[in-house]
Amino acid sequence: MTVPLIEQARKALEAAHVPYSAYPVGAALETDSGDVFVGCNIENANYSNSLHAEEVALAEAVKTGQTTFSRLAVSSAPRDGVTPCGMCRQTLAEFASDDLEIMCDTGDSVNRYRLGELLPETISEETLREAGQRAEADE
Ligand code: THU
Ligand code: ZN
Repeated sequence: MTVPLIEQARKALEAAHVPYSAYPVGAALETDSGDVFVGCNIENANYSNSLHAEEVALAEAVKTGQTTFSRLAVSSAPRDGVTPCGMCRQTLAEFASDDLEIMCDTGDSVNRYRLGELLPETISEETLREAGQRAEADE
């Protein structure tokens, strides 16, 4: 039996290393082929090197060559419906389309979003390609 994605995010947060915030987060990222990669937040004493659950899950997937995604579930220990932060939205957008379904755990239910709704404007490979073409045309 397949474990619901939100349950996999809840399980993933158990490995979080959060001595500073005491705010464990888990993420479960499902690929188009149905595989699931999980991540948790891993904090650092210098604070800025802290890794977010979503970026850890994404790295786990990409390192295996899987780069197309259908759904992401996110859960924090208080199950407060946390959504991916701005940085994680942009990190996800490098691979995922606007359609990526994002499920955020409120305990009793999940809040559902699409990546394009949480990050309506994104800098992408296309943005840079178009800027390069404009620069070439101006030469
Ligand atoms: N955190 C995540 O893991 N994902 C997010 O997108 C939101 C924030 C983590 C970072 C830090 O370890 C803790 O939650 C408090 O911000
Ligand atoms: Zn984040």
